[in-house]
Amino acid sequence: MNLNSLSEIASYIVSEGKGILAADESNPTCTKRFDSIGVESTEENRRDYRELLFRAEGMKGNIGGVILFDETIRQSAADGTSLVDVINSQGALPGIKVDKGLQPIGDTEESLTQGLEGLDERLKEYFELGAKFTKWRAVITIGNDMPSSEAISANMGALADYAKIVQNNNMVPMVEPEVLMDGNHSIEDCYDATSRCLESLFSSLSERGVDIKGTILKPNMITSGSNYSNQADVDEVAQKTLDCLKTYVPDDLPGITFLSGGQSDLDATAHLDAMNKIGGFNWKLSFSYGRALQQPALKAWMGKVENASSAQEALSHRALMNKLASEGKWDISLES
Ligand code: 13P
Repeated sequence: MNLNSLSEIASYIVSEGKGILAADESNPTCTKRFDSIGVESTEENRRDYRELLFRAEGMKGNIGGVILFDETIRQSAADGTSLVDVINSQGALPGIKVDKGLQPIGDTEESLTQGLEGLDERLKEYFELGAKFTKWRAVITIGNDMPSSEAISANMGALADYAKIVQNNNMVPMVEPEVLMDGNHSIEDCYDATSRCLESLFSSLSERGVDIKGTILKPNMITSGSNYSNQADVDEVAQKTLDCLKTYVPDDLPGITFLSGGQSDLDATAHLDAMNKIGGFNWKLSFSYGRALQQPALKAWMGKVENASSAQEALSHRALMNKLASEGKWDISLES
């Protein structure tokens, strides 16, 4: 693949309905996922699981990028091929999570994502290892007096600082301001918190001189809190998410790839499809799902070699369904 500029890389990842497989779970998060299927989280098991995902038939044509964790970008498949090469051979670009997780802000319940220290040196190594894009996740909580303006501006400022350093190292920054679904807030509260984040994020990116054409946004959708009694339906989620994005996201951003954030795999697909059926925007609207792509594959695998091909079929199916949703061509009847 001959991609010469940041905007070509960003545009390739979301071309023709393609989206991103988020496989960048840190070891503790991967351990949680493996605990749910009774599999020990060893380095080899993590490698085996991710290798089977990356080799799945349905990666081709449906997945344009894969986000990796530090351990994975250094690993080789059982036959000695580097996992980076396996991903490239599927027509997807390798990406890397570069933030260092969350630190509480004072004694509050809010957090600031860490990782700017030493980032420039780490990026140089990741570039040599084959990374074409990077991810940094900021976490914003809705609750009593939250999110605070301080938490929003500190986190969005850090995202913009990170994005600038990444572009200076010739990789595409994916900026992820995740407003958590956790809580019993209404969809209006989510709209309000997400608006405040996106407004602050794009003004910080512009202040730092980040090239928007070489950037990917990974936002949450606008949904009801997961414990809210009266859950918004698919049409409302789609319409409110689009209203919010159209208000705050510049037209020349090449791609918006949503996180799934705890939505079921079918909800994540249905919401994405509904937005693309409505249309009326310049960016590609696609997916960067972790759980919503992997959950059925994880359940099919159960840590057993003999289940590898059913796990691959499960991932391939979700990848295809989400590609169709990115083109507004999904239908529930395709799920059976
Ligand atoms: P989920 O789709 O499971 O939310 O994961 C995406 C991700 O990369 C979160 O940072």
